[in-house]
Amino acid sequence: MGKKQRIDKILAHMGYGSRSEIRRLVKQGAVRVEGATIKDSGMQVDPDTETITVGGERVAYREFVYLMLNKPQGVVSATEDTRDRTVVDLLPDEYRHFQPFPVGRLDKDTEGLLLLTNDGKLAHNLLSPRKHVPKTYFAEVDGRVDDADIAAFERGVALDDGYVTMPARLVVLREGDPKHGVVSKIELTIMEGKFHQVKRMFQSVGKKVVYLKRIAMGPLLLDEHLAEGECRELTEDELEQLTGHSGGQA
Ligand code: URA
Repeated sequence: MGKKQRIDKILAHMGYGSRSEIRRLVKQGAVRVEGATIKDSGMQVDPDTETITVGGERVAYREFVYLMLNKPQGVVSATEDTRDRTVVDLLPDEYRHFQPFPVGRLDKDTEGLLLLTNDGKLAHNLLSPRKHVPKTYFAEVDGRVDDADIAAFERGVALDDGYVTMPARLVVLREGDPKHGVVSKIELTIMEGKFHQVKRMFQSVGKKVVYLKRIAMGPLLLDEHLAEGECRELTEDELEQLTGHSGGQA
């Protein structure tokens, strides 16, 4: 609050075009601050307290955007990739100028809840290993997932590189029957985020994840109304819970 910035920077951030396009808008007299037409696209303005209009329409300024995406399979959790489509490619144009990035990664073949934001501080807090933000996954697993696996995951299992995982909560929704080709269905909550962690935890007990979807991250639950590839902004409540949870201010 209360920070002055160049008007062309503010308007570029809000998606009104490049700096030179905005200079043109200012020259045309389309931009007003507190009701007065401005002449200088370098003018310092506080977007939180001063009213800005472009072509008569009020600019609803905000610095950050927070998006919940239902990531489909086949896209990578990155902002750029030379080969594959990225999660950022899935976002509607209206969010592009905020330059959101994914908070953490889901594998290319993993679906589900992915948060995208341009709020670096929130992202940092959520990803900090010290914060132990819980992440819950639904998975289908080849083989019979049973009580022994629940106990093993609760104790911690050694991954292929020797790392021993923190206690994790495994809920078996359906015990599989490998003889009849029936996969197990489970939910697993982990408090850390090692590379391919869920797949490697099951690998450590001799089982293979064949389908993986993240359904929760901290207080955020995947919105079941979001189709694969769709996103929506977080509600105020969700954002409040998330910033409370991550121990930081958004
Ligand atoms: N664990 C995995 O193995 N993959 C993911 O995408 C997320 C967690």
